[in-house]
Amino acid sequence: MHSLKDTVQLNNGLEMPGFGLGVWKVKDGEEVIHSVRSALNAGYTMIDTAAIYRNEAGVGEALRQSGVKREDVFITTKVWNADQGYDTTLKAFETSTKKLGIETVDLYLIHWPTAGKYKETWRAMEKLYKDGRVRAIGVCNFHIHHLKDLMEGAEIKPAVNQIELHPLLSQVPLRNYCYKEGIAVEAYSPLGSGGLINHPLLSEIGKKYGKTAAQVMLRWDVDSEIITIPRSTKEAHIISNADIFDFELSLEDIDQIDTLNEDKRFGADPDNFNF
Ligand SMILES: NC(=O)c1ccc[n+]([C@@H]2O[C@H](COP(=O)([O-])OP(=O)(O)OC[C@H]3O[C@@H](n4cnc5c(N)ncnc54)[C@H](OP(=O)(O)O)[C@@H]3O)[C@@H](O)[C@H]2O)c1
Repeated sequence: MHSLKDTVQLNNGLEMPGFGLGVWKVKDGEEVIHSVRSALNAGYTMIDTAAIYRNEAGVGEALRQSGVKREDVFITTKVWNADQGYDTTLKAFETSTKKLGIETVDLYLIHWPTAGKYKETWRAMEKLYKDGRVRAIGVCNFHIHHLKDLMEGAEIKPAVNQIELHPLLSQVPLRNYCYKEGIAVEAYSPLGSGGLINHPLLSEIGKKYGKTAAQVMLRWDVDSEIITIPRSTKEAHIISNADIFDFELSLEDIDQIDTLNEDKRFGADPDNFNF
């Protein structure tokens, strides 16, 4: 990736921006409108929301206010666990599009691998894809065994697996499996949900390039062909997070960042969640 506009080609040929704005925990209304508008003004072309974030209406409002053409923004949303199942997913999709005020979603994701449900959910996702309501379908929080199980009997392979990924949770085996299967990897909580902003080694590396630890983490993502979606509600952070296309990490620095992995999660383990 050399700029905010650069894309990654998904396994169905769709071009997905490699860098976007996440809006988990961002309040519907003023707050999310401000975040999304700031991102679009700064040149972002991808927004990552979800039904459970309860801010799809604000995301849609920001899109309309921004004046940016619909086709110039890539919108991801997700079906929540309580809505998994065939009919319920179709219904949840309609609710999401109504809130967003859009007809077609660019990427629709299963939010978590809810046991006993995700295969039926996937059948509904396949229908939405075949009906042209979504341009790509994928999953979040799927371990290798979930992906293998889902793909058994699936007609369409997931285009994307959105997973927690940052220097303390580098997910190398899952990344390698996804690349082998042609599934794009998207990093959520790329800044450790904010917990790695002041990480000493990442800050130290950043100093060499006149960059922050956040910028180092995001550059590490794009250098590894990982789609990334940092969240911020502050315009200055939104702008600085995207200011990563004028430097490259040296191989030495990448190697050092790679040593930080300790399989540490800031969120839940997909093999052990209770929501
Ligand atoms: N599929 C899933 O299950 C799942 C789970 C979690 C997240 N996600 C997606 O991934 C997105 C990102 O993950 P995340 O929200 O967990 O967190 P994140 O992007 O790793 O970190 C966000 C935190 O970092 C702070 N921050 C951002 N840029 C900063 C900067 N330049 N300097 C200082 N602080 C900065 C933000 O605060 P300020 O607002 O103050 O800048 C916020 O507290 C989510 O918003 C969501 O779209 C998906």
